[in-house]
Amino acid sequence: MKETLEKIKSAALAELADKDADLEALRIKYLGKKGELTAVLRGMGQLPAEERPVIGQLANDVRAAIEEALNARLDEAKEAALRQKLQKETLDVTVPGDEAPVGHLHPLTRIQREMEDIFLGMGFSIAEGPEVEYDYYNFQALNIPPDHPARDTQDTFYITENILLRSQTSPVQVHVMESQQPPIKIISPGRVYRSDAVDATHSPLFHQMEGMVIDKGVTMSDLKGTLAMFARRMFGEETKIRFRPHHFPFTEPSAEVDVSCFLCGGKGCRFCKGEGWIEILGAGMVHPNVLRNCNIDPDVYSGYAFGMGIERIALLKYHIDDMRLLYENDTRFLGQF
Ligand code: DAH
Repeated sequence: MKETLEKIKSAALAELADKDADLEALRIKYLGKKGELTAVLRGMGQLPAEERPVIGQLANDVRAAIEEALNARLDEAKEAALRQKLQKETLDVTVPGDEAPVGHLHPLTRIQREMEDIFLGMGFSIAEGPEVEYDYYNFQALNIPPDHPARDTQDTFYITENILLRSQTSPVQVHVMESQQPPIKIISPGRVYRSDAVDATHSPLFHQMEGMVIDKGVTMSDLKGTLAMFARRMFGEETKIRFRPHHFPFTEPSAEVDVSCFLCGGKGCRFCKGEGWIEILGAGMVHPNVLRNCNIDPDVYSGYAFGMGIERIALLKYHIDDMRLLYENDTRFLGQF
């Protein structure tokens, strides 16, 4: 029996030493329930009593030796597998990475900020007002009573009969005058709404920038000088402006303001439709009724106001002929700016 055990041991160790050995098969063969060692141990009952502890001890030693050899091989195999895996997963850090596309500001935002910067440079500050507005601020305080025909061109979305989405940034004028005494010098960019169908020049949501200056002795020449400066900064130093008489209920006198075409210099081209001039905004001297509505004495103070569409400025500046392109968020288009 002793020899059998020794034989099993040396056979097992020899097989385990083979580098191609199937370790699991060997475990079953030698240590498994039906394995060779177990078979020997089962036969122990037939041994004389005094031999049993000696053979038992030997059997345990043999089992321990085989287990130790087996475990050593298993550890080796695990380590080899890990090494192989690590080698396979090695990163070549010199391979160029995937490029992460870097975005930029939307052209409308860029233009709005450019406009803000020009006016901030002339001493204006930025005021904000609500987009959900009372009829009073959007119309009545601006000298547009109920049923006034000027409301027709500014049909908007009503929340109640008295609450609406503002159709212009002009109501910010009223909020500012209500909360602040002159001197006042503000611009107010923001979203406005109108019940217009979408086409190349219309959108139910667009952006305007309002401007207003109120102080003692403010005249139309101040308005002209400010807008002339704005036009030069925005469209180039050669740009001239032109005032055309117009009507707005909240200014008197009122004007529409054109800039000389910055493509043809005023000679007339396709861009300005042969006119030489391009309309960019509405303006005028704040109507005495509007000042009075805001508790500002028109005999002491005067002021001017203007309002322009930010989309319009962006379309002109970037030579875009369809406003919808600004809203579609097609990065092939937006990426050009
Ligand atoms: N709110 C006018 C509009 O949406 C634009 C405008 C015209 C604003 C004259 C003004 C102004 O402040 O004085 O058509």
